[in-house]
Amino acid sequence: MHRKTLWSSLRVAVLTSLFYASVLHAEFVDPKVLDACSGYSATNIKASGAVLTADLLLNGEGCNVFGTDIKKLGLKVVYETDTRIHVKIVDAAAPRFEVPESVFPRPTVGGRAISPRSAAIQFNYTASPFSFSVYRTASREVLFSTASHPIIFEPQYLRVKTTLPSDANIYGLGEHTHPFHLPTENTTLTLWSRDSYGIPVGTNLYGNHPVYFEHRTTGTHGVFLLNANGMDIKLTNAGGTALEYNVIGGVLDFYFLAGSTTDPTAVARQYAEVAGRPAEVPYWSFGLHQCRFGYHDFVDVAGVISNYAAAGIPLETMWTDIDYMDRRRVFTLDPDYFPLNRMREIVDYLHSHDQKYIVMTDPAVAYLPGDTYEAYNRGAEADIWLKSANGSESLGLVWPGVTVYPDWFHPKITEYWNKEFELFYSPESGLDIDGVWIDMNEPASFCNMPCTDPFQQAIEQNLPPPRSNAPPDPNTPIFVNSSAIKVKRDDILNPPYAINNAAGALSGKTAFTDSKHANGLTEYDAHNLFGTMMSTATYKAMLARRPSKRPLIITRSTYAGAGREVGKWLGDNLSTWEHYRISIAGMLSFASIYQIPMVGSDICGFGADTTENLCARWAMLGAFYPFMRNHNQDTSTSQEFYRWASVTQAAKNVIDIRYRLLDYMYTAFHQAHLDGTPVLHPLWFKYPKDTATFPIDLQFFYGDSILVSPVTQEDSTSVTFYLPRDIFYDFTTLAPVQGTGAPTTLTNISFTQIPLHIKGGAVLPLRAQSAMTTAELRTRDFEFVVAPGTDGTASGALYIDDGESIAPPSATSLKLTFKNGRLSVQGVFGYKAEGVKASRVRFLGVERAPRTVRVGGKAVVKSAYAYDAERQVLDVEVGLPLTAPFNVHYT
Ligand code: GLC
Repeated sequence: MHRKTLWSSLRVAVLTSLFYASVLHAEFVDPKVLDACSGYSATNIKASGAVLTADLLLNGEGCNVFGTDIKKLGLKVVYETDTRIHVKIVDAAAPRFEVPESVFPRPTVGGRAISPRSAAIQFNYTASPFSFSVYRTASREVLFSTASHPIIFEPQYLRVKTTLPSDANIYGLGEHTHPFHLPTENTTLTLWSRDSYGIPVGTNLYGNHPVYFEHRTTGTHGVFLLNANGMDIKLTNAGGTALEYNVIGGVLDFYFLAGSTTDPTAVARQYAEVAGRPAEVPYWSFGLHQCRFGYHDFVDVAGVISNYAAAGIPLETMWTDIDYMDRRRVFTLDPDYFPLNRMREIVDYLHSHDQKYIVMTDPAVAYLPGDTYEAYNRGAEADIWLKSANGSESLGLVWPGVTVYPDWFHPKITEYWNKEFELFYSPESGLDIDGVWIDMNEPASFCNMPCTDPFQQAIEQNLPPPRSNAPPDPNTPIFVNSSAIKVKRDDILNPPYAINNAAGALSGKTAFTDSKHANGLTEYDAHNLFGTMMSTATYKAMLARRPSKRPLIITRSTYAGAGREVGKWLGDNLSTWEHYRISIAGMLSFASIYQIPMVGSDICGFGADTTENLCARWAMLGAFYPFMRNHNQDTSTSQEFYRWASVTQAAKNVIDIRYRLLDYMYTAFHQAHLDGTPVLHPLWFKYPKDTATFPIDLQFFYGDSILVSPVTQEDSTSVTFYLPRDIFYDFTTLAPVQGTGAPTTLTNISFTQIPLHIKGGAVLPLRAQSAMTTAELRTRDFEFVVAPGTDGTASGALYIDDGESIAPPSATSLKLTFKNGRLSVQGVFGYKAEGVKASRVRFLGVERAPRTVRVGGKAVVKSAYAYDAERQVLDVEVGLPLTAPFNVHYT
């Protein structure tokens, strides 16, 4: 059939279905229909230096699949750096919504002029019908190509599709609970923040990160779409492997990152240049955190703190959930269950024991007009609540009942939020918290108001009756003009292309998408930014309280770039082995791709009841989450680590290891903050040519060189895992283990052990001994473990500062290098750690007893070193203060 005829008949079919269904789901549209669209033609093309611009004119009448195609688009391509190309396509006639600079600052461009020819990747295009590709300069390998997939640009539907290699290795595009290595068969990744209890696989979750890394044996590159509107990203095998963006607003704003042909982590650093580098977090935040929903009163909370101490399990930070609030109203304390004087006693106790305290801060404020609830009254006075389309407060139903939501775009929001923090979290007269936990910031609502579900209505009992959304004022304009898109109000609530939102309609269980922000934006455009904007407001509020200290803020909802200020936990998982396993993929996505490295999931599981074995295994895996927190639901069986003997022992064993490695991880975080180098690594980051590593997400590297291979099967005591063809060392015995590049099985792994290997080539700085708190840990000596690689050399780093300042007054930054039997420790010794020594050096893989051992050039007596022939370990006592360079040498 002639193409045009085919298209006309298909279009009739589409338009007919549009007529019958007010909400047309994209799945009903045959991709062939979209691929048959006539697309655009590039004209007025101007290329000058690093910039290319063109007009894109619609061919014919266009597709009009989900609206009327926009006639003229503007294309701008900029080679921003040698490794980054920025491709932006906008409506040439009218501005549309773009992620505001205040939420996502654009990367700095400039300095030196980029010569496109010397860039690592190139932009290429075909003028008519318009398509573009990005390819590697040296190899001409195509990385992204829209050829044969015309771009569609309609008011509420944007579509870009690229062809992928048939065996594509794609990572990212979260938040989701798919495997880390994304299935390319019929996978839809929906980005629309959602309160997603139980984190079901295949559904949209809390955060939105429209970035992916694609890895090939020839290199790794990245693609980031800076667009915060709701979208479905589809990976499909039908008719050739492809990745397709289906977006319901905004503009097409792509950043193509060249990555590297040899080092996969290069693309992470390049993405950090765009999304921002992660915040540095306080040293103490790597301690163990204990939380639960359902601590009944202050006696309960104090009991948990005491029980941890009694069990000898280091507890760094105690948390309290919404239970502390008076009727679950944020910024209040229940006067009977959590009275201020007793809560201050708990905080003082914790602080005097070098421990910390964190409580929940929800965004939704109880809607109580005319009452004495000051957090509401002050907000109402300042008029900072998100508004409905008719101008009244946009109402939700959250923990306290009917609520309002802060409008993070309101000019007075900082003042409001800072004030609430200043009053409620005042060290002098309130709760002196050390960090903040922010939640429900999708924003969540248990049901859309007015709530008609009888079960949800029951939640509202004894609360002031909800104010239902009044009928719209007859004078309300029927065109909402947030993004200069002229669409009917109904389209904002039920856009013609319905993304695959697991909460149903776009406003399902969140604020209505026609709610308005003070700057005129609708929630339709701003929804996915709510959690990140709350994060920024909270960051500012903590800085206002303690201007020089790094805040620890843990959020549930994130947009790209949130890691600049906050960390993230992976939400409401369940106490199942499946969720224990999938936590690794979730954590790797945030830590190694999205630049939010302070991440972890609820250890032992949030919903449902855990078991002793699951909790023991999870305590040990959780010790290798950057953010280690045990958290539980109010209705679940208690799961503090001290509740079972095996879990107590497992936690003690593994916290001992975690704390000894704490400076190693702290150093990795410092590096991440400097340049975006990931703190966790999937195996393929380290073995990019080894195809067997590409799908692995049940093992990972903690820092550069600790390979964590947990037992993953229910109640099992064995694990089959992959050891790449390389030299490793068993973390416990320190004996060499040759990786064969084949699956390896370990058996008899007790419920208090986790398999760990050191990758050859590393010098690890370890504290010689663990401690009950991180403050105590900071007084411990260091020892250096030298684990040579196959070439006989090793290297590492150690960074030390005061552990809390945003701009530390002094720092120690050391390079640890090993070659030809000599470890040298060199660098800047700025930070004075009183009394902390380099106590010993442990050389691994030493095949024969040494003839001589020298410390700082001086031969040492035999009693100062010990050689274990069986394990091939040479231990040398050093005992030097860590204030000047030194070396240790054996022959
Ligand atoms: C949300 C959070 C969970 C918390 C609960 C009560 O479900 O995800 O962590 O315990 O709210 O605040």
